[in-house]
Formats: sequence, C-alpha cells, structure tokens
Amino acid sequence: MENPSLVAPVKRPRRLRAHTHIRQMVQETQLSVSDFIQPIFIEESIEAPVAIPSLPGVNRIPESDIAREVNELYQLGIRYVMPFGISKHKDEYGSDTWHNNGLLTRMIRTIKEARPDMIVIPDICFCEYTTHGHCGVVHDGYVDNDLTVTNLVKQSVAAAKAGADMLAPSAMMDGQVSAIRQGLDAAGYPNVSIMAHAIKFASAFYGPFRSAVDCELEGDRNTYQADPHNGRQALLEAALDEDEGADILMVKPGTPYLDVLKSLSDNTRLPLAVYQVSGEYAMLKNAAQAGLIEEQRAVLETMVGFKRAGASVIVTYYAKELAQWLQH
Ligand code: PBG
Repeated sequence: MENPSLVAPVKRPRRLRAHTHIRQMVQETQLSVSDFIQPIFIEESIEAPVAIPSLPGVNRIPESDIAREVNELYQLGIRYVMPFGISKHKDEYGSDTWHNNGLLTRMIRTIKEARPDMIVIPDICFCEYTTHGHCGVVHDGYVDNDLTVTNLVKQSVAAAKAGADMLAPSAMMDGQVSAIRQGLDAAGYPNVSIMAHAIKFASAFYGPFRSAVDCELEGDRNTYQADPHNGRQALLEAALDEDEGADILMVKPGTPYLDVLKSLSDNTRLPLAVYQVSGEYAMLKNAAQAGLIEEQRAVLETMVGFKRAGASVIVTYYAKELAQWLQH
C-alpha cells in the first residue's frame, strides 16, 4: 500500500516564499508613514521637556517646544498629530477645554501656526481637565450623558475655531457624534471631520496614559466605556456613529481587540482607525529594553496586524520611530 506521506504535495505555498522578490510580489499589506498619527503630550507651565516614566522614550513637552517638535515630526514625514494637554486649570466640568485661551485651543493654534499642513486631530474629552478625572459631568456619582454631550459640543466648536482639522471624540457618551456634527455645521465648520471612537473598551491598558497625563481617576469608567467581553456590541456602536455622521471609526485599544477591528471592516465602508494605547506601547518597550524581543520587528508586526485586520489609520506612540525605521 502506498504511504500517503511519501506522495509529493501538488500545492506548495512555499513556492511563493522562495525568493525575497517573490515574497514582496505577493505581500498583501504595506506600511507607510502616512498610516500613523503621533500623539503628543503638552504640559502647561513647564519650561523643559519632562520624561514620562510609564512611557519610556515619550516626553511631556512645554508649549514653547510645540513648534520645534511639530517641525521635527513633519520632517520625518509625519502629517497627523493628536495633542493631549496636561492641564493646571482643572475644574468639575473641564471648562478650560472650551475657553478661547485654554490649553486645548492654544495647543491647536500653536501647531497650526508652526505647520499649517500638519493635520491636527485633538482628542475630544474631559478627563485631563476635570478634578475627578472622569470624561464628563458627574452627578450623584454617575457621569451625566446629556450634560456631557452639551459640553463636548462646546469643546468641539472651540477646537474647530482654533484650527483643528479633525476631531477624535473619546468620551463614549451616547449621541456625541451627532451632537458634535450638528454643532460644527451650525458654527460654520462643515469640513471638520470626525474620527469617532466607535468603540473604546474599559481597558487596563490605559494605565500608563493615566499617569502620563496626571489623571487621578476616582472609580472606574465602566458605566461609559465598553465591556471587553462584548464584540457584537462594537457593531451596534459603530452603526450608531456611522448614522450620526462619523467619517472614520476607531477601535481602542488595538492588539487585544483585533477581532473587533476585523468585524467592523467586514461591516462598514467607512475607513477604520485603531489606537495602539499606552499599555501596548509600554509592554513592547519594556520587553525590548529587557532584551526579550527585537523591538523593530515586533513593532512592525503589530502594525501589520492592525492593517491586516482592516485599519488604515494607526494612532501609536511609536509613530516617530516608525517614520525613522521606514526611511531605511
Ligand atoms: C481619555 C483618553 C484615554 C486615552 C486616550 N484618551 C484614557 C482613558 O480613557 O482613561 C488612553 C490612551 C492610551 O492609553 O494611550 N479620554
């Protein structure tokens, strides 16, 4: 009797792996610097950059350094930045965000003055500007949806007026996208687009970010951010945001939620974004610094994973390094 294991296979996927040029020919996913958005941390009333211990290699920069930083990023080919403020003017509402001379609007204006072609995509939320660290107005221990949405609209219009090109609302309030869309249109900003956090999970992976922005959260965000156990809910959240007028849908965090990204990409025609959050970055950095993984290959592999799952935009603290790696 013929031993089947001795029969030569007819189909040999290895044929297309035999030569580096053939591998390139059939490569399904490519990375380019235009895939990446660089988050930047800007702190009020400091004079020199301050290292963020929870995010090795990332600094909080003073406002006086914004122009230099943005020019450096631009020279590396980065065209999208997401500014985060570290505020010294916190209150119960985060009202500094909608003041004409508050930190948020100052950051946006300064970036635009330094580099009018740099696309500015501020995170639209309150947690860096509230004394309690929640993403909105707290009433009897509960984040009030509709009052928060009213304030998100004020913040969004202020950001658009300051020159923001696109807004990334991340508070996870119901109805925030339609309210912001209507607010922007009524204020004369129909071309300012919305990158909606379609689904932002209540994740432990935000840990290093909270210390990076001095957010001393009282309690947790489980009544507004999504439960990590649910994948189908992402389709509902995304459908709502799409109906409400979102231009791009984001999934956050990235690596633990690739299934969610993939299911959105099978179910929407809108472009998708993913946020590789602080905990994902910190794990890669620390593993690389401990000599456990080859940093560049490991990071590129996570990026390829995001694109394979359907993302065309990636927010990552690695953007600057990726821009350098992709140049060589
Ligand atoms: C605030 C906000 C958070 C992040 C981005 N925007 C923190 C949170 O929801 O607690 C986290 C980003 C990161 O971890 O890199 N709305």
